[in-house]
Amino acid sequence: MKTINVGIKDVLSTVSHEEISKLDNKATEALDKVLNGTGAGNDFLGWVNLPTETTDALLDDIVATAEALRASCDTVVAIGIGGSYLGAKAVIEALSDSFAAYRPGVQGEPKVLFAGQNIGEDYLFELQDYLKDKRFGIIVISKSGTTTEPAIAFRLLKEQLERQLGLEEARKRIVAITDAQRGALRRLANEEGYKTFVIADNVGGRFSVLTPVGLLPIAVAGFDIRAMIDGAAEMEKNTNAADAQNPAYLYAETRNALYAAGKKTEILVNYNPKLHYFGEWWKQLYGESEGKDHLGIFPTAVDNSTDLHSMGQWIQEGERTIFETVISVQETKHEKLIPSDEANLDGLNYIAGKHVDEVNKMAELGTRLAHVDGGVPNILITLPALEEKYLGQLIYFFEKACGISGYILGVNPFNQPGVEAYKRNMFALLAKPGYEKETEAIKARIQ
Ligand code: PA5
Repeated sequence: MKTINVGIKDVLSTVSHEEISKLDNKATEALDKVLNGTGAGNDFLGWVNLPTETTDALLDDIVATAEALRASCDTVVAIGIGGSYLGAKAVIEALSDSFAAYRPGVQGEPKVLFAGQNIGEDYLFELQDYLKDKRFGIIVISKSGTTTEPAIAFRLLKEQLERQLGLEEARKRIVAITDAQRGALRRLANEEGYKTFVIADNVGGRFSVLTPVGLLPIAVAGFDIRAMIDGAAEMEKNTNAADAQNPAYLYAETRNALYAAGKKTEILVNYNPKLHYFGEWWKQLYGESEGKDHLGIFPTAVDNSTDLHSMGQWIQEGERTIFETVISVQETKHEKLIPSDEANLDGLNYIAGKHVDEVNKMAELGTRLAHVDGGVPNILITLPALEEKYLGQLIYFFEKACGISGYILGVNPFNQPGVEAYKRNMFALLAKPGYEKETEAIKARIQ
């Protein structure tokens, strides 16, 4: 069975097997907390058994809803931010043609665009301008149903859709994904009679890509969500043992051993431009889960070989507080050979006849060796191909490892108290009702 694999041999000159094994007790305890709900944040463990417990009825409902949107729309805007955005964006980018945005629309293949992931006035103006002659639909996603960024985007696009199509038709093209009962979006969806999906109370935003939050936009983009769930279910079963055969256990334990050895920053490295947003999703998952109590590895990401020409110098010779986790995709989808050229003025005939990916793989191997020699430990994650099943495996693997890793570190991996600070200030500055005292205080502070 093809599956993802985790290799740690290139960390061993920094942390030995013995040093990693010193964390065995903590890692075993952490895994137990994830599996049996005995740790802090245990009311947010709904994602743990989600793949094996996802029903055919739910998948059928998501696929049917996606098909209805695909039939009636040439463009679908997925509105959401953070965990209500990044998973779908990451998977759609990983599976899509790199130039899909520039190709004319294919019948039955709506373009999936995103909104509500920023507060860019120009972004929203240009999006609405683009949509003015489009048959568009909306998937609005917010677990809390109260997040400002998606609420602003939804207010604008809902008004535009109703204007372009009329109230009744607009209602048929809006799907809301939110809490079962709470929040402004739930009230609005009930009032308007939108089709809705529920985000379970016990699944946090950044762990929600394998729920309708991620699955509906991914299905609208034309990808096989059943294969994703199958892959995730395989990984769910393969990540329950408290030993190094469990890739999530191994990764969580190794990165914590590196952190204890002074490696404070982890760089997720890819050699495939389609994985850029996977890095963004991963950054949120680990950053929001572990960065608290003044602890936590700083997660960042690079896209190679592009970033070897920008960040390569720093990684090779900068401060030695970093380690890398490389995602290596084994097979490409298409073939492209480098042609021979009689004149050979560019001197490239030495690689004529080779696949482009063979050169890419040599860049990857050469870089890994150079970085390890330069004092940058490397964890290697191999992914058989950029396909739904393996992305399902990879997503679940990183989620499980994140839960284990956060508990090894000693934090509650499932809350995000620090995200509230900016919101309090923003609401105070905007004089939101209920924030009168804060408004007064912040105005005095910035005078
Ligand atoms: O992981 C999280 O909980 C957050 O990143 C949320 O997903 C993000 O803040 C969006 O929240 P909501 O879905 O409630 O709009």
